[in-house]
Amino acid sequence: MNTPRTLGTPLSPTATKVMLLGSGELGKEVIIALQRLGVEVIAVDRYPNAPGHQVAHRAHVINMTDGAALAALIEQEKPDLIVPEIEAIATDKLAELEAAGKITCIPTARAAQLTMNREGIRRLAAETLGLATSPYHFASSLEELEAGAASVGFPCVVKPVMSSSGKGQSKVDSAADVKAAWDYAAAGSRVDSGRVIVEGFIDFDYEITLLTVRSLGADGQVVTQFCEPIGHVQVQGDYVESWQPCRMDPVALERARDIAGKVTGDLGGLGLFGVELFVKNDMVWFSEVSPRPHDTGMVTMATQVQSEFELHAKAILGLPVNVALKAPGASAVIYGQHEAAGIAFEGVADALRVPDTDIRLFGKPESFARRRMGVTLATATDVETARVNAKLAASKVKPVVK
Ligand SMILES: Nc1ncnc2c1ncn2[C@@H]1O[C@H](COP(=O)(O)OP(=O)(O)OP(=O)(O)O)[C@@H](O)[C@H]1O
Ligand SMILES: [Mg+2]
Repeated sequence: MNTPRTLGTPLSPTATKVMLLGSGELGKEVIIALQRLGVEVIAVDRYPNAPGHQVAHRAHVINMTDGAALAALIEQEKPDLIVPEIEAIATDKLAELEAAGKITCIPTARAAQLTMNREGIRRLAAETLGLATSPYHFASSLEELEAGAASVGFPCVVKPVMSSSGKGQSKVDSAADVKAAWDYAAAGSRVDSGRVIVEGFIDFDYEITLLTVRSLGADGQVVTQFCEPIGHVQVQGDYVESWQPCRMDPVALERARDIAGKVTGDLGGLGLFGVELFVKNDMVWFSEVSPRPHDTGMVTMATQVQSEFELHAKAILGLPVNVALKAPGASAVIYGQHEAAGIAFEGVADALRVPDTDIRLFGKPESFARRRMGVTLATATDVETARVNAKLAASKVKPVVK
């Protein structure tokens, strides 16, 4: 597509129909952004009443890793665009349907395929594009992992090739710990492929997400734009706070943009990408990329003129986008703290009394101790104040079991 999509009326024959595959908190915000443009939205997830289900025109519950079930639903709904929001999808089926000209997948089915498995994206980035990454090996047995770990050196990080949010991931300090990491990876893998990556540990100063948007320019050519870098802190591989802009050495920023431009350019298509990078002085390493909005980018709901969700919604429709920063700000995660369905949140009013803060509660039907249930947002004249206030506001919210 090299012209903007004509927008119709939802629930009518002119409707522009978008199907979200995965309807968590990120999908929910993309759906809201699409709803504002009068797009008809079909939300799909593996469990009922997922956050995005609650704001879409129609909701479906299927196993999205089941190619036949996925194809049947696509045939039934006939969406103009398919927008993967998670990695655990039958991407081979999407690639087959795309190749047959039956669907348009955002940004491309190939991007969804490559990024669902760490091996695909890592080999593309390091071996095809020649980007700087941590040293790595893949292993399909404990013996291979032991050899790979010895080769990249200690400390190193072991991750299942198919996992996200730090699941099954562990840092290994010595050869004696390799077996424990292998067992932990097998338990935390999304699909028990029995395959892991072992990466040399990068002793970075800080890590960023560089949100990168591919949208159509007035001449119909794809334009690549970068948001201000987002800094974040991860605990056990899961994001707990983020802020924007993240102050960076100008050389490092230039390198970060160069890497992000190359990797998103190769993945192609239209939409927003979250490029994860490690930074030390002026050195930058590519870590991974999401071909979709990124959890650390939730901060943009407060900091940017157009949030990452609005940028994604507009870009995929072929519309122009504005990546400008509005104000420095931060986000802090609210965890469920309980294992229970239908929890309640006390202290929201206290949270919102912290200056210049806001909150999103995702409406997830079931809470787990470490499940992300909401996020606080803060803006300020400087990032430091915003970080303090976002965390203070989050600390005021008390998930309770009624
Ligand atoms: N090679 C490494 N060196 C140092 N730290 C690392 C390395 N790999 C991962 N980490 C740390 O662990 C975090 C999570 O790793 P990674 O992004 O690969 O996992 P993930 O499960 O895909 O997480 P998510 O889905 O939340 O992005 C990174 O953001 C970083 O803080
Ligand atoms: Mg990551």
